[in-house]
Parts: sequence; structure tokens; C-alpha cells
Amino acid sequence: MLLSLEHINKGFGNRDDSSYRPVLNDLSLQVEEGERIAILGPSGSGKTTLLNLVGGLDSPDEGSVQFRGEDITGYSSHEIDLFRNRQIGFVFQFHHLLPQCTLLENVLIPTLVQSDRISRAKSAERAEALMKRVGIWEFRNKLPGILSGGECQRAAVVRAMINAPSILLADEPTGALDSENVEVMADLLLELNQEDGLTLMVVTHSIELATRMGRTLEIRNGKLRQI
Ligand SMILES: Nc1ncnc2c1ncn2[C@@H]1O[C@H](COP(=O)(O)OP(=O)(O)O)[C@@H](O)[C@H]1O
Ligand SMILES: [Mg+2]
Repeated sequence: MLLSLEHINKGFGNRDDSSYRPVLNDLSLQVEEGERIAILGPSGSGKTTLLNLVGGLDSPDEGSVQFRGEDITGYSSHEIDLFRNRQIGFVFQFHHLLPQCTLLENVLIPTLVQSDRISRAKSAERAEALMKRVGIWEFRNKLPGILSGGECQRAAVVRAMINAPSILLADEPTGALDSENVEVMADLLLELNQEDGLTLMVVTHSIELATRMGRTLEIRNGKLRQI
């Protein structure tokens, strides 16, 4: 088991007064290594909240988030930073590349914490291999501003993959792409899953993307149900 969420309660506001708004309600989820999961649900249903809990960007009010059997909710802030840097890749609706950095510099940002030469050389090799694989190596010295949305989003995927994470968390990754680029992104995610064994958890409104995942879950009233 890669990931296990057990009886998660999560809301926002002050729990002691009427400002509290529950979002996730006694939610449990088990994810096996190498699974492809689509998360659906209306706007405001808690999809981003769920990904943030899995990625250690936020913590539950109650319940545990176990990664390979270890409860990450007990981690110190240093441990959670390490966990996120090594195990989790994030892709968002908008690529969030730094406009003043080249594509290559952008994809190497998560590796900047590495201080030794060998790790850095390995990261550079991995960046080249991944950028070639997704067809953006020729743009490595260009700034994001002159590239298309699809090209930038592929760079964002490479940046998410650069430290060889165990799981990729993608929050509406095709939300800003045209249909042609939706297909390119769907192919890419599927390839990373099938060839590299990458576990995928993808929040999406795209039926095209959702149908290519192995399991489709919907958040309703703070709980997940299979559809
Ligand atoms: N940091 C926050 N502070 C207060 N309320 C929040 C915060 N993050 C999310 N919410 C609320 O939690 C609910 C779920 O949000 P979210 O997980 O972003 O939904 P989704 O991604 O499904 O659209 C929404 O009602 C939202 O307003
Ligand atoms: Mg969201």
C-alpha cells in the first residue's frame, strides 16, 4: 500500500464556533503503488483540499495520512519538506513556471537543495532525458513567456518528475489546455504510469482524462464514492 487515508475530517474556520465549515467528512482512501486515480466532484467539494492533505501541504483536523505505512501528520516541518521534495510531484492547472528562468532552469528548481556534484550531474541528466521525452528539449534555453501553454505544462510535468517522486498529484492539469494538448498531456501521464510505475492522483473535469485513469472517484458531501 502506497497511501492510506483513514477517517479524515477536515474543515476551515474555527472549530469552536459557527465559522467552521466541514469539507471532508470521515473520508478514507487506500491507494496501491502504480494506481491511476481520477478525482471528480463539483467546485468547492474538497478536491484540492484532498490533494493538499496527501501532499503534506495541509494537515487533517482528525484522522491519519499514511505514506508507506508512516503517518505523515506527525512529521516535523523539516521532515514534511523532505517528504514533499522526494516523494511528491505536483502539477497545477497553471504551470507556475518562473518567467525570468529558462525552461531548463525551471525544471531543475526542485533539485537546488542538492549540494553535491554527483547529485547535480544526475539531475541534469534526468532533466535532459525527461525534456527530450516530452519534446521540449529544443526549448531548454527559452523563457516560458515565448512558449505555448501546452509546452509550458509539459515543462511543469518534468519539474514535478525531476526528483523521481512516488506519486504525482495533478490538480486540473488540463484545465487551461486546448483539446489537442489535453490529449498530449493524457498520453504523457499514462506513459509515466505504465513505463515508470508512477502512481497518479488526478483531479479533473475532463472526461477524456478521467476515462484513462484506472479508478474514478467522486467527492460528494465530504466523502469519496466510486463511479
Ligand atoms: N484555506 C482555506 N480557508 C478557508 N476555506 C477554504 C480554504 N481552502 C479551501 N476552503 C474551502 O473549502 C471548500 C473546498 O475547497 P477546495 O478543496 O478548493 O474545493 P475544490 O478543489 O473541489 O473546488 C470550499 O468551500 C473552499 O472555499
Ligand atoms: Mg480545486
